[in-house]
Amino acid sequence: MNKRALITGISGQDGSYLSQILLDKGYEIYGAVRRTSTINTGRLFELDILNKVNLVAMDLAEITNIQRVIEEIKPDEIYNLAAQSFVQTSFDQPIYTSEIDAIGVTRILEIVKMLGGKTKFYQASTSEMFGKVQSSPQNEETPFYPRSPYGVSKLYGHWMTINYREAWNLHACSGILFNHESPLRGVEFVTRKITLGVAEIAKKKKQCISLGNLNAKRDWGFAGDYVNAMWLMLQNEDPTDYVIATGETHSVRDFVEKAFNVIDIEIEWSIDNGVEFGRCKKSGNILIDTNKDNNRPAETDYLLGDATKAKAELKWKPEVSFNNLIEMMVKKDMDRVENGNFSF
Ligand code: NAP
Ligand code: GDD
Repeated sequence: MNKRALITGISGQDGSYLSQILLDKGYEIYGAVRRTSTINTGRLFELDILNKVNLVAMDLAEITNIQRVIEEIKPDEIYNLAAQSFVQTSFDQPIYTSEIDAIGVTRILEIVKMLGGKTKFYQASTSEMFGKVQSSPQNEETPFYPRSPYGVSKLYGHWMTINYREAWNLHACSGILFNHESPLRGVEFVTRKITLGVAEIAKKKKQCISLGNLNAKRDWGFAGDYVNAMWLMLQNEDPTDYVIATGETHSVRDFVEKAFNVIDIEIEWSIDNGVEFGRCKKSGNILIDTNKDNNRPAETDYLLGDATKAKAELKWKPEVSFNNLIEMMVKKDMDRVENGNFSF
């Protein structure tokens, strides 16, 4: 019989890619979607898998809803990807973020335990839990120091996952994933904001992209590679936690320069009255400006992951390079802007 997976957050970037690879492996997919005025199915549509998955109404805020869904579907595996996932918003909505990203995890774990504890559970943990990094590169042993309500909430979910594994013997594990991007990334995140902005500038629909901290560094990989690691973790006989990362770090500034290189523009940086700008070297036009509104009250300055454990035990490795990721994102956004083809 086919395995059954319940994916929370199926409408998001990772949920869509994960559905795609699990369908290829023959899984029956149930995707939890919360009630909104229009259900966000654009990514599943773009991957051409919308009619291959079963969508069920489930909000992480509502335990009775979670219980009914899990009781009815009886999944072999649950991938808990649902979250208020935007760090900046978590400073304005700390309580909502905790409700979903922290307590939401316990709601699912408790129901899994109550129903016999047979379902395997994957928790989407994050490198944002390292926050103000205590050592580099970061691996499974690095102490945490979250710098946002999002990071703090995720750290609670992380420890709850470990606690249910240790206390109740659940097959529960937590993937500490570093930033991963794709053409399906939400437009609020910096990489997609840049690649869409570059495409709009190339097609003369926009003049300038406004950013915040250009010096923040991230270990950016491709989401399509990272969802495979989630699946591999749940196939382990003994559940444990893994860091998933590329082992390379780049600044937002590097990302901007490389994204403009895809459309043959070289960026020159300058500071006027304390504000930094990026100009087209050839024309002198300002293509990037910086605005303090895009800064965070507390920043995670530097992330660099060490995925040695995942490489050794899961035989996982990233396939898409930083340059190829940027090129893939810019080209897809050029196509979207040119054809007005925005499905999410
Ligand atoms: P995403 O694109 O923002 O997707 C988040 C998903 O969660 C969406 O499907 C969203 O539904 C759903 N959701 C939000 N609140 C919900 C609620 N109350 N009940 C049910 N569903 C809810 O995020 P992503 O990039 O795919 O990330 C997936 C997971 O990995 C998240 O937990 C994120 O925190 C974590 N993570 C991501 C990264 C990364 O770099 N991408 C790195 C580490 C960890 P709507 O469509 O209705 O909004
Ligand atoms: N979003 C955004 N917008 N970020 C900007 C901007 C801007 O205009 N300008 C500079 N940045 C900087 C942020 O300050 C941050 O240091 C960095 O770019 C990355 O920001 P995001 O792309 O919003 O991602 P994030 O690192 O905060 O969070 C993402 O990765 C986490 C894993 O480390 C999200 O996907 C989280 O859900 C995930 O857990």
